Amino acid sequence: MTMNNFKPFDPLKAKSLADTEVAALAQKREIKNILGSYVGWYDPFCELIQNALDSIEERAANEDNYEPTIWIGINIKNNSLSVTDNGIGLDEDKFQKFLCPDISFKSGKTRGHKGVGATYLAYGFNYIQVATKFPGFSAVGKMEGSRNWLNDENPSGNPQMKQDEKVYAKAFSEIDRGVSIFVKFDQSTHPKDLKWIVADQAEEWLKILSVKTGLGAFTANNDIKVVLKVVDRDGTKTEVVQKGIEYFLPHNAVQKSASASEINNKLDELFKKKGKNLIYHQGLKTLMLFTNDGQQTSFLSWQKTVGLKLTKTR
Ligand SMILES: Nc1ncnc2c1ncn2[C@@H]1O[C@H](COP(=O)(O)OP(=O)(O)OP(=O)(O)O)[C@@H](O)[C@H]1O
Ligand SMILES: [Mg+2]
Repeated sequence: MTMNNFKPFDPLKAKSLADTEVAALAQKREIKNILGSYVGWYDPFCELIQNALDSIEERAANEDNYEPTIWIGINIKNNSLSVTDNGIGLDEDKFQKFLCPDISFKSGKTRGHKGVGATYLAYGFNYIQVATKFPGFSAVGKMEGSRNWLNDENPSGNPQMKQDEKVYAKAFSEIDRGVSIFVKFDQSTHPKDLKWIVADQAEEWLKILSVKTGLGAFTANNDIKVVLKVVDRDGTKTEVVQKGIEYFLPHNAVQKSASASEINNKLDELFKKKGKNLIYHQGLKTLMLFTNDGQQTSFLSWQKTVGLKLTKTR
């Protein structure tokens, strides 16, 4: 058998050389793979908050007299989430590129660095609005139907970011520079419905986000201001403002606390006595188990008005 000769080639060129259909399929596959790594209910919260924190910290490092702030809007009624920051903002080039898989403009000690978080936000959902203010460039765009496009075998073209008018997050009008991103959930997305978490007050959500997202920074930062607004299923609004971010440790917030093993022993005892659907006493809203190093190990399923069902989720 004779071997063929060939010139050195760059295998990574395959993507750009492929005909359009193969290239489009490759890109879709790439996005699907990225989405496959996001399985957590809180992932959209984590990714938006992480990007906002990175951005305000980058601006804070270079500017005096600046109050790094993030505004989080959770609208349970409209099933949407927005995160706005007064950080560095996106210039025109970044605005056009940052949703593309594997594009990151960060380096160094930021929280994010892989360049996939924004892709997940844009293609994991069917509605995203991105607004930016940057010196010399301000824009609002929306992209619709991208989650459905991913599953569509014969789509009529890729989703487009189109110019939009009104920015959902009110806070955006207050900032001189920064980014606001709004995402809407629906039956084909994960999460599907924000009502799934029974919490509907800003104070409750702040605690949850301080455990589940970058708001619960391991190293506290006292300069960062967080404004969290929640609209509940009936349209009632609550708001909480917090100066400083830190991990939510139980002894800072609960009057009574016990070690994980004490709670476990008590749970075992109650399971034996009353069975697995024991209803815990009214009024107790959240119960979390923590290990000694402060890491949360499990949530017990929690129902605000009915009480608490004891189901161990270790
Ligand atoms: N709120 C924001 N303000 C300014 N720039 C942003 C913001 N959100 C995203 N970006 C820019 O878009 C890029 C892509 O964001 P993306 O979340 O995909 O990647 P990443 O944060 O770098 O890494 P990771 O995949 O770990 O999240 C970021 O590197 C950053 O430059
Ligand atoms: Mg990110």
